[in-house]
Amino acid sequence: MSNDDLRRQLEFYRDIGIQTLWRRDAVLRAAAVVEPAVIPEPESPSLIELPPLAPVGDTLLKIRQDIGDNCRRCRLCEQRTKIVFSDGDEKAPIVFVGEGPGADEDAQGIPFVGRAGQLLTQMIEGTASKEGIPLKRQDVYICNVVKCRPPDNRAPLPDEMEVCGQFLFRQLMVIRPKAICALGGTAAKALLNSKEGVTKMRGKWHKWHDIPVMVTYHPSFLLRGYNQAGKREAWEDLKKLLHFVYD
Ligand code: URA
Repeated sequence: MSNDDLRRQLEFYRDIGIQTLWRRDAVLRAAAVVEPAVIPEPESPSLIELPPLAPVGDTLLKIRQDIGDNCRRCRLCEQRTKIVFSDGDEKAPIVFVGEGPGADEDAQGIPFVGRAGQLLTQMIEGTASKEGIPLKRQDVYICNVVKCRPPDNRAPLPDEMEVCGQFLFRQLMVIRPKAICALGGTAAKALLNSKEGVTKMRGKWHKWHDIPVMVTYHPSFLLRGYNQAGKREAWEDLKKLLHFVYD
């Protein structure tokens, strides 16, 4: 790659919000703290492996192939069982973005199949049916910010989100849905880079590269304890989303 090509590619990353690149060997060090690599002068481009973001003619199949079957780009590879890429219709007008796989998803390789997933399915299908919209879970596209399960279901760390975020970016660019639903604070942060919490952001329209984004609560949050108010709000958010897309 020439120095000019490298400069252009780094500028492209900066324009889409990527501030820091990690060296592959630094990411793989199991140490709790990962040191960001200094972006080198173009004289030493071989230090950085640049991910192919949104290549021309990109497809979901290519993205899945680029991830590979044994991705080791971040420390989440160490404890995962299966890489969890997506579920649902690749031509869907709505994409739901969660945080990262849990234990059931890690075992099956499919997003949102555990308790939170069952609630998400109920929320999508229940709201649609009440609103007279013939929509099933398989009619939407579902994916996560990170494709491998964070240990003990902890939230993904910023470098993990950044490394894996390139694939979410490409998924959304290929699908170009009519609207995106960010499930919870991690998805909202990854897509919108906002410092606001989910309580402030939910129920309102935001934008990801011109595509409207509705933020709502993560289904796992709604499963916690007695959370009727949260559930009601999430149902309202979904109603808004479905009417925007299907009316
Ligand atoms: N929580 C998520 O954010 N994603 C899943 O796939 C499952 C639970």
